[in-house]
Amino acid sequence: MGPFGLPGLALAAALLLLFLCLRARRSRRPGEPPLIKGWLPYFGMTMKFQKDPLGLIRTLQKQYGDIFTILLGGKYITFILDPFQYQLLNKYHKKLSFQRLTRKLSVRVFSIKILENYEDLDHELHGAYQFLQGKSLDIILEDMLQNIKQTFESQLLKTTNWNKTQMLTFCCTMVFEITFTTMYGKVPEDDRKTFISELRDNILKFDDKFPYLMSDIPIVFLRNVKSIREKLIKCMTPEELAKIPGSSEVVQKRQDILEKYYGLEDLDIGAHHFALLWASIANSIPVMFWAMYYVLRHPEAAEALRDEIDHLLQSTGQKKGSGFSLHLTREQLDSLVCLESIIFEALRLSSYSSTIRFVEEDFILSSDTGDCSLRKGDLVAIFPPAIHGDPEVFEAPEEFRFDRFMEDGKKKTTFYKRGKRLKFYLVPFGFGANKCPGRFLAVMEIKLLLLVLLTYFDLELVENKSIKLNYTRLFFGIQYPNSDILFRYKVKS
Ligand code: HEM
Repeated sequence: MGPFGLPGLALAAALLLLFLCLRARRSRRPGEPPLIKGWLPYFGMTMKFQKDPLGLIRTLQKQYGDIFTILLGGKYITFILDPFQYQLLNKYHKKLSFQRLTRKLSVRVFSIKILENYEDLDHELHGAYQFLQGKSLDIILEDMLQNIKQTFESQLLKTTNWNKTQMLTFCCTMVFEITFTTMYGKVPEDDRKTFISELRDNILKFDDKFPYLMSDIPIVFLRNVKSIREKLIKCMTPEELAKIPGSSEVVQKRQDILEKYYGLEDLDIGAHHFALLWASIANSIPVMFWAMYYVLRHPEAAEALRDEIDHLLQSTGQKKGSGFSLHLTREQLDSLVCLESIIFEALRLSSYSSTIRFVEEDFILSSDTGDCSLRKGDLVAIFPPAIHGDPEVFEAPEEFRFDRFMEDGKKKTTFYKRGKRLKFYLVPFGFGANKCPGRFLAVMEIKLLLLVLLTYFDLELVENKSIKLNYTRLFFGIQYPNSDILFRYKVKS
């Protein structure tokens, strides 16, 4: 028993209970959005939300309109559901803070020390995200194609007979290896397999506990997550990364910036690198899974995609079946509208990556539809499934339709609600100043992997089961499938 003994523990528990009950006693002030607290102190509507998130939000929307506040896991969250009001988050960006949340994420989840001049550091690190776009992305594309070639030639292109494997496991392996080697460099051949697979397994174990790390549960209660995190950070210190040649411009630039703020021996540099590595795979893996799963489950999608790819390869004089010899520019990748439509449709159906902001002070949010008061300390959320699953915007929204984002052979960007054209209809990457800086890289990587798989392999699902979202990462990204599924592949003869 610790220094305070049983009476101390009992007192702490009583104080905690009192705090929870007091927090739940909050009542709606004049001008505030409708308040839904449920009957459980602290947890509020959490159980109902976890069971059927979109169903609950829809029911409340019918009852209370497009803006209301719910108590979820000790947090009061105001949902803004009208897509024409999403830009309010940008308009009030000084009062609705993103930094407050990322700081918490940095400390709690990634163990990054917040320096006094954190804002300057944050600003410089944001500047480095330019190396995930434009000309730098062309360099990343070339490098990524080389890495895909190397990974496929050393492993998959040797499989002339049918090979059976689990799809999610396959996607984890592929996406992790390609992303890591493209961003952080080529691990020398001797250590490559062990290093990559250990790092991957550890980061996946860590990621599995991510929703808990974001909650108020202390990390010591999350089994061995703390020690896994320490291992991951130690793998990504400047000293360790220096052993891996060929890192990307964005990683090099970040290293230069971090060295100005931390000492070279500081583990915080490793923690920053680890945080970016996590961001670069955590959502891309499940998107790759969903895109692949839908293509294999919908033969009409696979056929249209194969036609589109064949057409591109023929028109650029590239022959199939003579080893891995793909050369693609970003413009060529961009011209594959069916491929893009499939990926966007996979994102539409799986994204719960909510845009969440912290209310810095009490203030009145004025919109076209009226004013409402927001309370300091609450959160405000844009909830993608509400727009992605809106039947007025997307016909039969629960169905996968590979050509939903295509029209007359071109990209479709016109979607309407209440007869008005929508600016924001697909928001898996957030929007505004803090929109995901890795979005171009993520879509490009998934395009390349699907293209290579369909070009060089025959692919089939082995099991006939319908896979659903598992809802373990509500608010935090792309949902994982509720089960893995077997598929088989063989190199095309
Ligand atoms: C399909 C894959 C991905 C999805 C769905 C996704 C989604 C998101 C979302 C929703 C945000 C928060 C935006 C906001 O709150 O306004 C975000 C932030 C971020 N993402 Fe991604 N992301 C993906 C892939 C990537 C990749 C590949 C990278 C890196 C190469 C990356 C790096 C980041 C970073 C660094 C941030 C924080 C930005 C900031 O601090 O302003 N993401 N992402």
